Amino acid sequence: MQSPVQNTVVVLGTGGTISGSAASPDDNLGYVAGTVGVDALVASANGPAGVAVESEQIAQLDSKDMDFATWRRLAERVAHHAARPEVAGIVITHGTDTLEETAWFLARVVAAAKPVVLTGAMRPATSREADGPGNLADAIAVASQAGRAGVVVVFAGQVHSAHDVRKVHPSRLDAFASGDAGPLGRLEGGRLASARPWPREAALGLGVLPAEGAAWPWVEIVSSAAGVDGRAVAALVDAGVDGLVVAATGNGSVHRDLAAALARAARRRPVAILRATRCLDGAVAEKGEPEAFASAGDLVPVKARVELVLRLLQARAPAAKAD
Ligand code: SIN
Repeated sequence: MQSPVQNTVVVLGTGGTISGSAASPDDNLGYVAGTVGVDALVASANGPAGVAVESEQIAQLDSKDMDFATWRRLAERVAHHAARPEVAGIVITHGTDTLEETAWFLARVVAAAKPVVLTGAMRPATSREADGPGNLADAIAVASQAGRAGVVVVFAGQVHSAHDVRKVHPSRLDAFASGDAGPLGRLEGGRLASARPWPREAALGLGVLPAEGAAWPWVEIVSSAAGVDGRAVAALVDAGVDGLVVAATGNGSVHRDLAAALARAARRRPVAILRATRCLDGAVAEKGEPEAFASAGDLVPVKARVELVLRLLQARAPAAKAD
């Protein structure tokens, strides 16, 4: 039997500035995120010829309010559409504020053999100079590429990996960067002009997610900084926290008072602890001697938090299989 032509891209809408609206087309700041439907976003984007575009509204959120229930639904719908033979790839429109967390979550949960492309915008859909339509058209072009697989972010003419991407500016149009690694590729005139191979993360599969309505692990970030003490850690442990990410200084170093509080916490009851660096670029390099707390490598603290949530879920469901 002939395999069907993969010429469909599915756009899943979750909200964000890309779907935001303001009272005036000149207002790029005083808008409400997550108000314009994904159908309208698709209609405004001039995607590549020969690609059929479908859309589905998953949520309509300002991404600062992203939640686990939406992540779960998004992962399920990505897996569902990725399994359809006629689908070339999936695009997700998302607010920029937590886009990197969702990208890492999907990369570590969904084992899609097709492109999964997140995009957003820095100006609302109603802006005279909206950047959303261009970003969405580029994302659709990248998602329709045969032979690519994995979760990437397309923004301001660049392609970033889920692992390296981070929001680096609160208002510039090119608000995303990939640190030392640099972007995976660039788009010129709606076409992928250069591209490195896309990394594939080891995906845990949807089976790792808790049953609907069940609690997800509670993981918080604590910062090591001048003058910190252990009170925040003690309060969190008393309140039942499951995991802590330490946003550590430099090469993963932790203030002695915070380190003492973390050690006390770990002696009282099992609390998973990961050290990530506060530095903008680079990884926590192992010094060749055992460290009290495991390193998150080069994951930024917010992605290390997602990682720790997933590792705790994996520990709860050891038999989970990749989908
Ligand atoms: C959001 O993250 O939903 C609002 C900000 C943005 O999309 O740029």
